[in-house]
Amino acid sequence: MHASWTQKYRPRHLSEVAGNKDSILTLREWLTSWSGSPPKKKGALLYGPAGTGKTVTAEAASRDLGFDLVEMNASDKRSTALVERVVGTAVEQGSLTADKRLILLDEVDGIDPSTDRGAVEAMASAIERTRWPVVLTANDPWDPRLSALRSVCLMIQFKRLGLRDSIPYLKRICLSENIEIEEKALRFIVERNEGDMRSILNDLETLSAGTRTLAYDDVTWLGHRDRKESIFEVLGSIFNAKTCMWAKKAAGLANVDQEMLFEWLYENAPTQIEDPRDRARALEALAKADLFMARIRRTQDWGLLSYAIDLMTAGVAMSREHAKTGWVKMRFPERLKLKAKARRQKALKIAIGRKIASKCHTSTNNAIKYYLPYVKQMLEEESETA
Ligand SMILES: Nc1ncnc2c1ncn2[C@@H]1O[C@H](COP(=O)(O)OP(=O)(O)O)[C@@H](O)[C@H]1O
Ligand SMILES: [Mg+2]
Repeated sequence: MHASWTQKYRPRHLSEVAGNKDSILTLREWLTSWSGSPPKKKGALLYGPAGTGKTVTAEAASRDLGFDLVEMNASDKRSTALVERVVGTAVEQGSLTADKRLILLDEVDGIDPSTDRGAVEAMASAIERTRWPVVLTANDPWDPRLSALRSVCLMIQFKRLGLRDSIPYLKRICLSENIEIEEKALRFIVERNEGDMRSILNDLETLSAGTRTLAYDDVTWLGHRDRKESIFEVLGSIFNAKTCMWAKKAAGLANVDQEMLFEWLYENAPTQIEDPRDRARALEALAKADLFMARIRRTQDWGLLSYAIDLMTAGVAMSREHAKTGWVKMRFPERLKLKAKARRQKALKIAIGRKIASKCHTSTNNAIKYYLPYVKQMLEEESETA
């Protein structure tokens, strides 16, 4: 398995972390100040949105300044005990050992107050007594539950990465991945992810799978992250996807469920896919997807869903070997229209049947079966003579 880009390009040194230079400097100075007598605030709380480099910065700082990193996720139930132990050992052994430790409590806002009652207070008290710097991270530090921690920590804010910091950083990555990307496309990806570097890298990796060049038009179909895409855009993305991943990702953005998506694909595949051989392959993939969905309906074995989805997205996309020449309008699924029409007619029949039944002392079913045909005939003749 190859490493994802977020792992591959995970900054190892502070100089490699993009943006937030002032915050990084503050952390660096605070850590250096530990070489004398410990500073007043013995914790540093790095806070800000996800994917801005809080964890990475703490790790890189520890490496750059020669600390031994003791890292734990704060939401781990054992972490309170661990902090206590690490801090405790440190106090006892501090003067005997030459090592410098840095304790990283990652994601303190993930502590579950219902199961970890007192965890925050225990951590705050450990921080007051610690002999080693304790770095904490959180997305939302203003959570009232974290007030005990705030008062023992130096607060260091991490801001969303702007274009100025992220574009040069991403350009270097694209260069080393040998990908040519239009600057406008890069800007679109950064803005779409609101400066969340983790998501940006994930998007970029997905988009560049199987291609060496990315133009603005190759990335815009992603749309804005929080916005669900209209079904037309999603269908277009599936029919025109160049890789399996694109096709699957597009389906994830759809604002309809998989059965509806299937109907849309089924309706439009014959017109969207021009070449008869391609069309046959696409319909074959859809037929197989339909088999899986039928089995899911029958057995409720939802584990099969991923096969159905792969077939109707990647299967359809990969059936395209011949380029399309023009744009063809998407159509609303005819089957759904018919089904809806049939439902409406049935409801109307029942309503009429009930009225007849109450006047003619018979059941609704019988009224529909024996009376309604005559009523229908009479009304039709009436309109003819009128
Ligand atoms: N400022 C940054 N510079 C470079 N890469 C970053 C930055 N922020 C996040 N990343 C990328 O995102 C991934 C997650 O970063 P992380 O430090 O865990 O974010 P946070 O802790 O703020 O949620 C990293 O592996 C890295 O690839
Ligand atoms: Mg983190």
